[in-house]
Amino acid sequence: MEHIQTLFLLCPFVFFTTVTSEGNVCSRPELGGNIEMDGIQRYFNPGAELTLSCKQGYTPESGPRKIVCGASGKWTTTQLLCTPTRCPYPESLQYGDLNYEDTVYQSTINYTCYAGYILTGASSTVCQANGTWSAPVPVCRPVTCGLAPIPEFGVIIYDRKIRGNTADYGVRVTYKCLPPHALFGNEKAECTASGTWTKTPECREVTCRPPENIDHGYMSNSDQRDYDFMETIRYGCEGDYVLEGSMQIVCQKDGKWSEKPSCKAPCSVGIQRGRILYKEQKLWIKDLQPNRVLHGQIVSLYCMDKARKCGYAVTTQCMNGNLEIPECFEEPSVADYQSQPSSLPSEINQC
Ligand SMILES: *[C@@H]1O[C@H](CO)[C@@H](O)[C@H](O)[C@H]1NC(C)=O
Ligand SMILES: *[C@@H]1O[C@H](CO)[C@@H](O)[C@H](O)[C@H]1NC(C)=O
Repeated sequence: MEHIQTLFLLCPFVFFTTVTSEGNVCSRPELGGNIEMDGIQRYFNPGAELTLSCKQGYTPESGPRKIVCGASGKWTTTQLLCTPTRCPYPESLQYGDLNYEDTVYQSTINYTCYAGYILTGASSTVCQANGTWSAPVPVCRPVTCGLAPIPEFGVIIYDRKIRGNTADYGVRVTYKCLPPHALFGNEKAECTASGTWTKTPECREVTCRPPENIDHGYMSNSDQRDYDFMETIRYGCEGDYVLEGSMQIVCQKDGKWSEKPSCKAPCSVGIQRGRILYKEQKLWIKDLQPNRVLHGQIVSLYCMDKARKCGYAVTTQCMNGNLEIPECFEEPSVADYQSQPSSLPSEINQC
């Protein structure tokens, strides 16, 4: 037996002639669809059986695995279906993306980490013939920065807890300067994807020269000294003057005071005879004692609509010592004022 087999392998021509001389034979089947068979035999006698299998990386789905060589020299057909072996669905990657088209035999998954994260492990994995991935899912670890630099006269506040001497990518800090130092630069810094901090601000000492008083006003503090950054001074106005603007000024980062307020003068109503409407009261001008309205206050005077023979009120406002008398206002003569006060525009029918 051993002798015959050796002959077989060494002398295919001998084998060839031997079989053909015996009538119909089947030649080695042509197999598609990732099916394979064992051995290298090229010709088979009728009645010979062959067991088919799926190629590596393919799994048999259905159909008989055996084919038989018929008397006519044809193989029986097979419905064997070999489908690519599937690897398990990949797990997602925290702080990264995975890229793949399929999860079958020989498919590749590529892993990438988001900016600021470093990949630890294999950056790609291949689906193997036995349905397992060639490498485990990698890990994306954040880039780290050292501790953020602290400027002189500054303090720092981290937006989250820091372990040890490193801060992870994305950690933010807020800077503050100790008075009388002011912060120059960006108040916030961040650990970047390259492992460095964004620019650190500076704390510089800032003072303001003593501020001057305002006309008709007084100050909460008139010490002739330099004032520190953020120090404040309040202003007030004398008597009937009205303060306009912010009551308080502050020593700013640029070494200057914020805008000062001003004191606005009261007005007198410049008529001798007539009635006015002031604070919802109708008054004869002589009853306005003293004749003084404050800056910003509104006074109405009465005019005559001569065509319609009726009176109407016209408003005017005290603007820093100046109260304009409406053009339509006519001052009555002393005689009219005394003899016929009931004929004044303020006393007759109102339009
Ligand atoms: C994975 O990366 C390789 C090499 O960069 C590339 O050739 C391949 O197309 C990528 N595959 C996918 C699914 O992105
Ligand atoms: C799958 O095949 C790979 C490569 O041949 C091998 O290293 C691994 O141990 C196999 N896994 C299983 C579960 O058979």
